Amino acid sequence: MGIRTIGVVGAGQMGNGIAHIAALYGYGVVVQDIAQAQLDDARATIEKTLARQLRKEQITGSRVVETLERLRFTTTVGDLAEVDLVIETATENASMKYEIMETLSKVVQPEAVLATNTSSISITAIAAHTERPDRVIGMHFMNPVPVMKLVEIIRGLATSDETYEEVRTVAERVKKTVVCSRDMPGFIVNRILMPYINEAVYALYEGVATVPDIDTAMKLGTNVPMGPLSLADFIGLDTCLAIMEVLHDGMGGDSKYRPCPLLKKYVEAGWLGRKSGRGFYNYYRE
Ligand code: CAA
Repeated sequence: MGIRTIGVVGAGQMGNGIAHIAALYGYGVVVQDIAQAQLDDARATIEKTLARQLRKEQITGSRVVETLERLRFTTTVGDLAEVDLVIETATENASMKYEIMETLSKVVQPEAVLATNTSSISITAIAAHTERPDRVIGMHFMNPVPVMKLVEIIRGLATSDETYEEVRTVAERVKKTVVCSRDMPGFIVNRILMPYINEAVYALYEGVATVPDIDTAMKLGTNVPMGPLSLADFIGLDTCLAIMEVLHDGMGGDSKYRPCPLLKKYVEAGWLGRKSGRGFYNYYRE
């Protein structure tokens, strides 16, 4: 029968982006978060992005209305009981993800697929916290979800071929390009991206250059849309640190993945990047 309805757990920047494109491309979507304020923000962000897409004539007015009609927001996990696929987008913290998946495994109909948008944690380990490891898979979107074309799909040890095919179909229907990664720390994107960002923080820490010069060097010198420190602020420094820690632990403490002490200090200070108003740059006046 295939997947027709999607639950999104967590209404942060990844969750609202995934909910946006899922509803835009015809899925009924239930967004669940424990915080009502987060749900309100998610709805506002989706409405704003849809309005921008309408203004640019990328979508019609009736498509905006239909998309919003397909979205439901709730603080109750039980409201996910009937969906065909759940995509979990909670904070990058293994024990939190295990707990959420344990709950979902009990609450959501047994034949539903449980996907996780983890950017680095083992899918096999997450799946082991459910009663249906064959129906668990990694579906890693990039930020900002409506713009970025990629989805990494990661199969755990027990993921079935059917689960993989169903999830791949969803990713293609929302117009993403799929790449497949083995279930190794950081998968493809973060295995390569995070050591690059971490190295930029080391360059700053060791006084190689200033924040703007490091970013300008990489932006103009390698033709990327954002410099690495700007990108780290965009992703969230807590997320960057969490991924570096998964890489470091998962690779047996290999020193090439050692998180830069300056990155740790920023996170300790609560300087998490754009979302907290301060990171390598100041965003208070934005
Ligand atoms: N939501 C929806 N649309 C957005 C958006 C958002 N949050 N931010 C920007 N856009 C859209 C704009 O509307 C604009 O659309 P059109 O082309 O249709 O006009 C387009 O994106 C370009 O935006 P802007 O002109 O405002 O700004 P820009 O050209 O500087 O682009 C950017 C912004 C798309 C974020 C670009 O800087 C970029 O691609 N940066 C790199 C992003 C990146 O590397 N993401 C991956 C992070 S890693 C990750 O996500 C994995 C992980 O696990 C950590």
